[in-house]
Amino acid sequence: MNVLKIIRTNCVFVNKTKLCYFHSSQTKKKFSTKNNNDDDRITNSQFDINFNNILSNSDSYESSIDYDKIIKTFGCSKINNALISKFKDVLTNSSDISTSTNSSQFHLLNKGIYFCHRDFDKIIDIYNHNNNNISNHNKVKTISTKKEHNKQIYLYTGRGPSNKSLHLGHTIPFLFNKYLQDVFDCPLVIQITDDEKFLSNKDLNLDETIKMGYENIKDIIAFGFNRDKTFIFSDIDYIKQLYKLNLKIQKLVNLNTIKSLFGFNHQDNIGKISFPSLQCTPCFYECFPEVLNQNTDWNCLIPCAVDQDPYFRLTRDIAYKLKLNKPACIYSKFLPSLEGTNKKMSSSGKEVKILLTDTLKTIKTKVNKYAYSGGQETAEKQRELGANLDIDISYIYLKYFLDDDMKLSEIENNYSKGIMLSGEVKKLLIETLDKFITLYQEKRNKITDDEVRYFLQIRKIG
Ligand code: TYM
Repeated sequence: MNVLKIIRTNCVFVNKTKLCYFHSSQTKKKFSTKNNNDDDRITNSQFDINFNNILSNSDSYESSIDYDKIIKTFGCSKINNALISKFKDVLTNSSDISTSTNSSQFHLLNKGIYFCHRDFDKIIDIYNHNNNNISNHNKVKTISTKKEHNKQIYLYTGRGPSNKSLHLGHTIPFLFNKYLQDVFDCPLVIQITDDEKFLSNKDLNLDETIKMGYENIKDIIAFGFNRDKTFIFSDIDYIKQLYKLNLKIQKLVNLNTIKSLFGFNHQDNIGKISFPSLQCTPCFYECFPEVLNQNTDWNCLIPCAVDQDPYFRLTRDIAYKLKLNKPACIYSKFLPSLEGTNKKMSSSGKEVKILLTDTLKTIKTKVNKYAYSGGQETAEKQRELGANLDIDISYIYLKYFLDDDMKLSEIENNYSKGIMLSGEVKKLLIETLDKFITLYQEKRNKITDDEVRYFLQIRKIG
């Protein structure tokens, strides 16, 4: 479901990207509840924000999504230096992370690509608490075996199969999940919402959607998740285990809330209306009786892009009614479309996207032809004025995919001062993407049906 299409029932329908958010910092103050833990609970004061206001000028390729405004209106917390340092301490305290993680994705956090969160700090606290206890055997003896003292972390992410192949934007959450799985050495559950895509796209038939889901599972496995700690499930297959808890969730969510959050109208099919409750369900470990040890107090962390926040705001809101743990979230910005920073790369949009199945030749053509440039019109002018990096797609993509800080700083300096030309930066991007995608495709080609079966098998991962 494209949550960018969210509208509120009583707000004016402007266009497809109209979005309704609620709970700005303003409303939070006005309607704050007594209990601080409920600070993001949905209130009656739900209010609308037009997503086009957040995209400063959505028709212009030279405008960008206003992420500060998103933080404010969603009521998330910005990832600041203090939190990054706290996370860095986890990295230094954990001896085998740097060696076990052959591709660190720390730059995604450090460069502000993962930019806001809900309770990520609490997840780090749980990790630190457990780690201190492990390093201190005496302490271990004093730990109660009671479930509430046995807090652990699991990760949860997902994919709605709307295309046979993932695009470059989808790699961001999967790279980061793989990284965090290594850092926290924890289980990960991955939901394939074949039901969601079937229900939300009138042109998709069910068998086709299931097949795309299967291909996407292979795409996902190729990111190299820990096979003994990762469980992938399709909603259609795993519904029996999800359904009990899902029913309890459905009973707590009324139509108005769903309409407010996802903007459905009276013509929408009823499946779309109930679907969000299914994306909420895996936030609670109770739906994984054979996968996660039920004597452990599991705390869920969801790394994904910020478009998924409405589902998890809803989940956090109902968690207290279910007396279950609120999930924590960590959100990234969108990898923008090739054509400009005002749009995200999207499977459903008409914009040109880079697919993980693209050949070098195709990538070259797409980047050279479509990547919006912040450079000047002529080489002469570029030498004189330099490039505007804020809107230069090649530079922005390099920030995501070039895992070499020194090189990136050099590009930043030289390109902004006019020492480098747009064509040179595009060439560097093509080389970087070629390296990344070639390596990825090698791994993807080796994923067998047996390997898929292994990841899908209901089994203990934690
Ligand atoms: P889907 O399939 O639209 O997207 C899969 C994941 O990719 C992220 N994403 C992006 N990240 C960066 N830049 C982009 N341009 C970009 N486009 C998409 C999404 O945020 C998502 O993390 N309903 C979900 C499936 C789902 C899910 C979940 C996602 C089910 N459970 C739990 C995250 C967490 C969907 O259709 O995602």
